[in-house]
Amino acid sequence: MSASPVSAPIPSHSRASSLTTERDFLPLRGTDYVEFYVGNARQAAYYYRLAFGMSLVAYAGPETGQRDRASYVLQQGKVRFVMTTPLRSSDPIADHIHRHGDAVRVIALWVDDARRAWQETTRRGAVSVAEPYVKSDENGQVVLASIRTYGETIHTFVERDNYHGAFMPGFQPVEEDRLARPVGLLHIDHMVGNVGWHEMDEWVDFYARVMGFSLYQHFDDKDISTEYSALMSKVMANGNGYVKFPINEPAEGKKRSQVEEYLDYYPGPGVQHIALATDDILHTVTRLTEQGIEFLHVPHAYYTELQSRVGKIDEPVEELEKLGILADRDDEGYMLQIFTKPVEDRPTLFYEIIQRKGSRSFGKGNFKALFEAIEREQQLRGNL
Ligand code: FE2
Repeated sequence: MSASPVSAPIPSHSRASSLTTERDFLPLRGTDYVEFYVGNARQAAYYYRLAFGMSLVAYAGPETGQRDRASYVLQQGKVRFVMTTPLRSSDPIADHIHRHGDAVRVIALWVDDARRAWQETTRRGAVSVAEPYVKSDENGQVVLASIRTYGETIHTFVERDNYHGAFMPGFQPVEEDRLARPVGLLHIDHMVGNVGWHEMDEWVDFYARVMGFSLYQHFDDKDISTEYSALMSKVMANGNGYVKFPINEPAEGKKRSQVEEYLDYYPGPGVQHIALATDDILHTVTRLTEQGIEFLHVPHAYYTELQSRVGKIDEPVEELEKLGILADRDDEGYMLQIFTKPVEDRPTLFYEIIQRKGSRSFGKGNFKALFEAIEREQQLRGNL
């Protein structure tokens, strides 16, 4: 559980000077939105509003001139999700849902210049999904362009400086969402992709070569293993550190690992979890639990060793244990994190809630306790 780091973390936010931003061929201002293709967007939106506390801020559908699908835009802090469903089974979106269930299709990245982002990445080998195009309405215009990443997931570059509407041309604003029950979510901390056997380095190379990301942290199967199963992970970060994508691949173990289970059910590579940041995890997780979000159970033994492993922390250990929150420390501070159970019937997508108090860790000290908890759930599903 306390294996030494394989490689030291590389860039820090403080080191990302304007000089390095100038040299960055793909400067990113952050994650713009995450779009899910779902079987019933109206009901999915309801779940994210009442359980995760997001507000419905915009809508597009037949009533607004979007004839083939309905899209609900949900927001909390800077976290923005779009739930999209096709209105006819002949729509290609319906095929995506047939294959993957409700799933993340688009990880949209906010850029100053979408044309340039598309040119720089396709020149370096990215496969284009959509060449740069403009959408406009009375509130201005956005420029969009898309490239492929792992599996059927895509990145869309969004340039929106000249747009002043609710979300995007074609969307109608929703004035006030009386259903939303906010829980204090602030922004996306990181989004993790699961890729196939021995494919991690190929995708690490893609993010380095095509998108100008660099290796931020690296964990091998000795860091991330239990008695039964293992995985390997490398965290890729963009130039200013605003966007972080850990990439996981399965590793050999005595039994089937969680990444294998995902690849089997998704099926294929896709987004495994989205980590959402809060500055008060006790409050956020209390609210989420009250609103029906189910988290992984952490055994009592984890908390008896916590203080000696992590040292002094502001939060009472009994409070953390009551909610099932994990803690980890590095030389810069500590962090608190917790993982939901999968939010769908397929054992695929789940969420992490994270509060960083100085630490840039991804919770290496928690991997063993966490994966043993995941294995108990896999066992219940008959998949271990
Ligand atoms: Fe994570």
